[in-house]
Amino acid sequence: MPYTEQQFNLPELTGLSAKQIEVHLKLYAGYVKNVNAVKAKIAEYMVDSTANALAVAELTRRFGFEFNGMRLHELYFEALGGNGIPAPSNSPIAGGGLCEALVAQYGSVENWLAEFKAMGVMRGIGWVLLTYDEKGQVFHNVWVSDHELGHLADTKIIIAMDVWEHAFMVDYVPAQKADYVSAFLANLKWDVVESRFSA
Ligand SMILES: [Fe+2]
Repeated sequence: MPYTEQQFNLPELTGLSAKQIEVHLKLYAGYVKNVNAVKAKIAEYMVDSTANALAVAELTRRFGFEFNGMRLHELYFEALGGNGIPAPSNSPIAGGGLCEALVAQYGSVENWLAEFKAMGVMRGIGWVLLTYDEKGQVFHNVWVSDHELGHLADTKIIIAMDVWEHAFMVDYVPAQKADYVSAFLANLKWDVVESRFSA
């Protein structure tokens, strides 16, 4: 069953232009297309996996890049269009269970956020994720290189922040990466993020 491109009806965002989002959504569509193409090619080459061993191996290795590129962008766009993280001055309960849990682990939402932002301005291309390890009952801020290197197995992705340059290059130069990170966080749909945690 091929994957289909998801549609995101994003409102006007703060600090992220319509052009930036348009360019980025087109790139996301490419991942969906490639996931289906790689899957189909693997099946085709598997008919004679010995004769096609090199192609099978390379496409199999590539699949995680394309699939995670697709899925991480879906998590990214799905959580855009809101008013950001509940104000730190709010009661932790006001933000729901997620704020409360972040405060329990990090001492405050600001402490967690400082770490998340610091990872966001790291050099290199990839993603910064807030993940929750249900078994260990602990959050991790995680750096993922490209789309597939560094994921923590069996943890739940709560926030996915794209820090590839294509995510901000229409609106910001590389030296302004911190401004992009702030813009992303200012547009977060906290109810979506919250529902991932409570699920
Ligand atoms: Fe992206």
